[in-house]
Amino acid sequence: MLQASRGWRRGGGSIGLVPTMGALHAGHLSLVELARRENDVVVVSIFVNPIQFGPGEDFARYPRDPARDARLLHQAEVDAIYEPSADVMYPPDAGTRVHVGSVAEPLEGRARPGHFEGVATVVTKLLAAVEPDRAYFGQKDAQQVAVVKRLVRDLDLGVDMRIAPTVREVDGLALSSRNVYLDPEGRKAAASLSAGLRAAAQAYAGGERDPDLLRRVLAAPMGAEPLVAVEYAEVVDPATFHKPGTLAVVAARLGKTRLIDNHDLRLPFVR
Ligand code: PAF
Repeated sequence: MLQASRGWRRGGGSIGLVPTMGALHAGHLSLVELARRENDVVVVSIFVNPIQFGPGEDFARYPRDPARDARLLHQAEVDAIYEPSADVMYPPDAGTRVHVGSVAEPLEGRARPGHFEGVATVVTKLLAAVEPDRAYFGQKDAQQVAVVKRLVRDLDLGVDMRIAPTVREVDGLALSSRNVYLDPEGRKAAASLSAGLRAAAQAYAGGERDPDLLRRVLAAPMGAEPLVAVEYAEVVDPATFHKPGTLAVVAARLGKTRLIDNHDLRLPFVR
């Protein structure tokens, strides 16, 4: 990968990297389109990163469809798919891990111990392998964005972080590779996450600033759904992920499926 990348760079081309775990959906493809517009060369990595899944999480059943992913990426005119194996990424004696600190601690960090260390480690390795000018991430994983931005800044990685908006279904559900786990009833109930974000954005636009009240508005639609178990509903700072702030973040379980979503309350909620 590195040899190919350095060849492109010698030829004067700019390189965009879209890191993914495959099972591509329209959200991923919007990142690829943005990368296509902004770079001479687009690389998409596909790697279901074992070290960002905790024990008992969905690593084994995480959806995988490399042939379909390759077709979609070919249609989207990417230049290369980087699909390393787990042995190449993590030889048995490779123990180095990247620990980002404070921004990785609350919310997802607390709910999924070790998750962000796994993300930060693999993103560091992908950036080292591709040496891109720009790297593309979805706003859907807002805390991941904050963690990777901090990583890039703290380690002087010099890559331009490009963040694309969340793509949503008609009822507001954020696209996620994990949505395929939902049965029809769960799928209906899952719209309550974005309903809370929409309601909180409307309250904020109407002048509401009381964090407790905003939190209650945010959690209410999920609370009204018997199939939904709320893990958190908070309003935090989008860069630090600590309170106070304007980024509404939610996580909930629907049976075995865990979903997250977020919205910056200063912006109108579209859909
Ligand atoms: O968002 C994802 O798909 C993953 O967390 C990432 C950034 C590809 C790292 O494995």
